[in-house]
Amino acid sequence: MAIPQHTIDQILDRTDIVDLIGQRVKLKKSGRTYSGCCPFHQEKSPSFHVYRDKQYYHCFGCQANGNAIRFLMDIDHRNFVEVMKDLSSQTGIELPKDNQESKKLVYKRETKKPIPAEVPVTTSKPSKTNESAQHFDPFEEFQNADDPFLEFDHAPTFQEDAIQEGNLFDLLENVAQFYEKQLPQSQSAQQYFKQRGLTAQTIQFWRLGYAPEDWQHLEKAFPQDIEGLKLLGLIRTSDSGRDFDLLRDRVIFPIRDSKGRVVGFGGRALNDEIKPKYINSPDSEIFHKNQLLYGLYEGRKQKAQDWLMVEGYMDVIALQQYGIYGAVATLGTASNTEHLNILFKQNHRITIAFDGDLAGQKAARRTLEIALPLLNDGRELKFFVLPNNHDPDSLIRREGIENFQKLLKDSPLLSDFIFAHITQNHNIATPEGKSQVMAELRQLTELLPKVGSYRYLLQQFFKEKLGFNRKWQPYTNNDASLSFSTKIDAEEYVIAILIHHPYLYIHFEPLRALIPPEQLLHKILNIFNDIFENLPDDPEQAKYYVLGACAPFHFELQRILQQANVSDYTTSPEKVDKLAQDFSIKLQYDFLKLKMRSNKFSSIAEMKNLKHQLYEIDKKRSLTLLDS
Ligand code: UTP
Ligand code: MN
Repeated sequence: MAIPQHTIDQILDRTDIVDLIGQRVKLKKSGRTYSGCCPFHQEKSPSFHVYRDKQYYHCFGCQANGNAIRFLMDIDHRNFVEVMKDLSSQTGIELPKDNQESKKLVYKRETKKPIPAEVPVTTSKPSKTNESAQHFDPFEEFQNADDPFLEFDHAPTFQEDAIQEGNLFDLLENVAQFYEKQLPQSQSAQQYFKQRGLTAQTIQFWRLGYAPEDWQHLEKAFPQDIEGLKLLGLIRTSDSGRDFDLLRDRVIFPIRDSKGRVVGFGGRALNDEIKPKYINSPDSEIFHKNQLLYGLYEGRKQKAQDWLMVEGYMDVIALQQYGIYGAVATLGTASNTEHLNILFKQNHRITIAFDGDLAGQKAARRTLEIALPLLNDGRELKFFVLPNNHDPDSLIRREGIENFQKLLKDSPLLSDFIFAHITQNHNIATPEGKSQVMAELRQLTELLPKVGSYRYLLQQFFKEKLGFNRKWQPYTNNDASLSFSTKIDAEEYVIAILIHHPYLYIHFEPLRALIPPEQLLHKILNIFNDIFENLPDDPEQAKYYVLGACAPFHFELQRILQQANVSDYTTSPEKVDKLAQDFSIKLQYDFLKLKMRSNKFSSIAEMKNLKHQLYEIDKKRSLTLLDS
C-alpha cells in the first residue's frame, strides 16, 4: 500500500509524540523537553529525550531517534504499514484502501477492428490476449444473432474475449519500447542526439527514443489501450473531441521509478524554437513527479556514491556518459522536501547544483529553506554554483571530467555558502550591515533542527567572521597548532572543545556512560548533563554559563585551554562539528575496548550488548579516519 505523504503528515499532526511515548516510557519534564530512560538500550541515567514542539525523540546514548512512526516501528518491531494502520484508527484519518490502489493500475482493454495494413506500427510484443483479440471475427455476433440461447451460452465468452484488463505498468513498458524502436526510423532524432554528443551506448542505457510526428501514432500502435493511454495522459482529447498524442516529433526520455519501471516520459523538441522545449507526461495514478527523481534508479544501478542534484535530463545523462554517476534531476518541478529526503537516503552528504545567475540564486535560497530543516543526523549539504551561462551538461563538455570533478569537489561548505549568500546584500563594514546579517542568519537558523549543534556553530561562525567575538579569547595560544597529541590527551582536548562550543555536548553525551567517574572529563560531562537544557541560546553567553558551572575545576580548565588551540577550528562549523564527532567516536571506541578487556560483566546480555556497541562504533571509526 502506498500511503501518500500528505496522509502521513496529517496523521503525525494529530499524534502527540509525548503522549504516545509516555504510554511506554516514564517521562519527566525538564525545561522544554521530556526525558526518560531509553527503551532502546540499557541505561541507568536518562538520555532519551522527547521534543513536543518538533514531534521528535532522540537518545543521546544510543542515537535512536525519529518521529512517532519510527518509535512504534522500532519498539514493537512492526513494519510501516502496520504502524500506520494503528495510528490511522487512533487518529481517525483514513488510509487509502488496498483494493482502490490496485484498481487504479488497471484499465479496460478493447477489441478493435484489425489495424489497416498501411499503418507501420505494432512494435510492442503482441501478448497472448492481444492475439486472441485480433483473431476475433466481428461477424460472428450477427451469424448467431437469432439463437435464443446465445445470450446465456456464448455471450459471456464473447464478453471476456472482447474486453480484458490491462495493467498500466505493462502499457508504459510497451510504449517505452515503441518509442525506442522509432528512434532508428528517424534521421532527425538520431541527428539531434548526435549533435548533443550522446553515444549509442548512452542512448541505450537511458532507453532514449523518439515519438513520431503523426497525431495518432499511439492510437494506431495500441488500439486496445486507448483508455489506459488516456489515464496516463499520453493521449489527450481536443475541445472538438478528437484524440491526439501528447508527445509528437520529440525525442523521448523514459522516466523510471526506483524499481526501474517506466512510469512516465519527458519529450524534448528537436529545436529550441519550438515551445515548450520539454513536455512531460502529466501526473497519473502511477506517476508522481513530487516523489520521483530522474536518474535515481540508474545511479543506484551504477553504485553511485556521491549524489548531485541538477536541473535537467540532459545534465544527468551527460554527466553519466562522462563517468559521473549519481546525478539526478526533478521532473520539471521545483525540488521539494521529499526529493531531498530521497537523496539523503542514498548518502548523508549531497550536493545541489545551481546556475550562477539570479534565477539560480533564488532557486538556491528556496532549496536552502526546504533543506535546512532536514539537516540532522550528520547530514551534509553542499552547493555547487555553476559559472554563468553554464549547466552541468555544457560545463563538463567544456572542462572535461577532471576539471569538472575538481570544481565539484571545491564547492563551498554550507556555512561558507550561507555566509556569501547573506552578506552579498549587506555592507558588512558597518554595524548596521552586521546586525542585518545576523538577523537574516537567525531566520535561517530557525529552520535548522533544534536537536543538533549546527545552528549554534553557524551563529558563532558568523560572529567571528563579522568580527563580533574578538573580545573573548582568554585562553588561546596562538603558536599552538593542532598539537593536542603532544601536549594534552584526547580527553582534555574534548574538554577544550566543550568549553568553546558547549552545544557540541550532544556528540559527547554517550561518553558519560563509558568514562570512569574519577576522570575529569566524566565530571565535566556530568555538569553539562545538568546544565545542557538551560544553556542560553546565544553561543557567547553559553560559554560564560559553562565556565561558571565548571568553576570548581577552574585551574585544570585553564591549563587545558592554554594548551589546546581550539580556535583554529572555529573557521568552519562543519569542521568543528566533525572534529567533535570524530573525537567522540574515538573515545567511545577506546573506552568500550577497555571495558571489554576488563571482563567485568554482570550478564551475558551485557557482554553481547557491549560487543555489538563496539562493532557499531568500529564501523563509524573507519569513516572518521578517512576524513581526518
Ligand atoms: P532547461 O530549460 O534548463 O533546459 O530545463 P536544459 O535541461 O538545459 O535542456 P536542454 O539542455 O536545452 O535540453 C531544465 C529542466 O526543466 C524542465 C525539464 O525537466 C528540463 O530537463 N523543463 C524545461 C520543462 O519541463 N519544460 C520546459 O519547457 C523546459
Ligand atoms: Mn542544457
